[in-house]
Amino acid sequence: MNILITGGAGYIGSHTCVELLEAGHDIVIVDNFSNSNFKVLDNIKTITSKEFKFYEGDVKDKALLEKIFKENKIDAVIHFAAYKAVGESVTKPLMYYRNNLDTTITLLEVMNEFNCHNFVFSSSATVYGSPKSLPIKEDFPLSTTNPYGTTKLMNEQILSDVATADPDFSVIILRYFNPIGAHRSGLLGEDPNGIPNNLMPYIVRVATKELPSLNIFGNDYDTKDGTGVRDYIHVVDLAKGHLKAIEKAATSKGVKYYNLGTGTGYSVLELVKTFEKVNNIKVPYKIAPRRAGDIASCYADPTKAYQELGFKTELTIEDMCRDSYNYIITKEKHLND
Ligand code: NAD
Ligand code: WQD
Repeated sequence: MNILITGGAGYIGSHTCVELLEAGHDIVIVDNFSNSNFKVLDNIKTITSKEFKFYEGDVKDKALLEKIFKENKIDAVIHFAAYKAVGESVTKPLMYYRNNLDTTITLLEVMNEFNCHNFVFSSSATVYGSPKSLPIKEDFPLSTTNPYGTTKLMNEQILSDVATADPDFSVIILRYFNPIGAHRSGLLGEDPNGIPNNLMPYIVRVATKELPSLNIFGNDYDTKDGTGVRDYIHVVDLAKGHLKAIEKAATSKGVKYYNLGTGTGYSVLELVKTFEKVNNIKVPYKIAPRRAGDIASCYADPTKAYQELGFKTELTIEDMCRDSYNYIITKEKHLND
């Protein structure tokens, strides 16, 4: 298939591009580098030894999308391009609504124009809000606590409405749990600008001594050791889930929802201890107050993705800790040479 990847230079998008190319698909990437680096494109080529087309620009730019669809016969779209920082979405809600909704609407309009009807969307476990029980199944009630999460839920609604209105449409909505890790080569990974909000990037910065110590947000939750529990999924496993989703989109109609997680929850302390052991490095931490908006535990029931997509994660929490650290300690070299 020839697949348009929006946000393909980003963290999850770049790993997915590698998996798609290695599986023999053709890809076209569009990205405006608002949260990524052009060097990522070279690194995708280095890993795969494959060529692909790239357009620099904004997915909200309809003329650009029309040009891409005119110049390429696109069979399916995987839509990663979005802003993703929860805290920033609270302070800049309009920026989030504009970018995260307009990109999808513009894409859908142009797909209609060019008769392309297969769509895979990056949603998030954040749409489950505070789940009534665990593990989380796809039919659980949905709610959100911040504008970022609301953009994901609104996107899901838009896509569902479009699939209802046009029976030719096939939409696969993937609800990611907590992606961490990096490509084994050390050529692709995640390194946010400024002080990280998410746990693994923060741990890595403490390990490299760029930050003095990790603040663990709360040790009085009703969990195994009192710290928050999450379903961490290796980004390479997550990327492979998109291969399965693309195959499903090509052979089904309507809208389908899948959790992409491992089904196992690890606490903050467990992640820190595993990171220390695997990388043989200390991660100093202190217990801090709970972070507003956090829930105690969140992990997926991955059964539906296994039964309907044949998706099963393979990489361990040790792999995630090793690869996250390896990317950062080798990154300077890869991004600058
Ligand atoms: P990322 O920021 O690394 O990648 C997003 C990419 O999209 C970046 O390369 C950015 O430059 C690009 N982009 C953003 N807006 C654009 C626009 N208007 N036009 C063109 N390019 C644009 O993020 P990621 O972690 O790879 O996340 C990918 C998707 O998965 C996002 O939709 C995100 O909301 C979703 N998601 C991420 C997580 C996570 O923890 N990383 C969890 C659940 C869902
Ligand atoms: C994980 C655990 C924290 C940082 C977020 C988004 C979600 C999705 C994935 C996009 C929690 C604890 C964290 C720190 C800590 N993104 N923690 N000290 O909050 O589960 O999910 O990323 O869709 O929408 O909300 O991930 O990595 O921020 O936190 O103790 O410095 O680590 O309290 O228990 P979260 P996270």
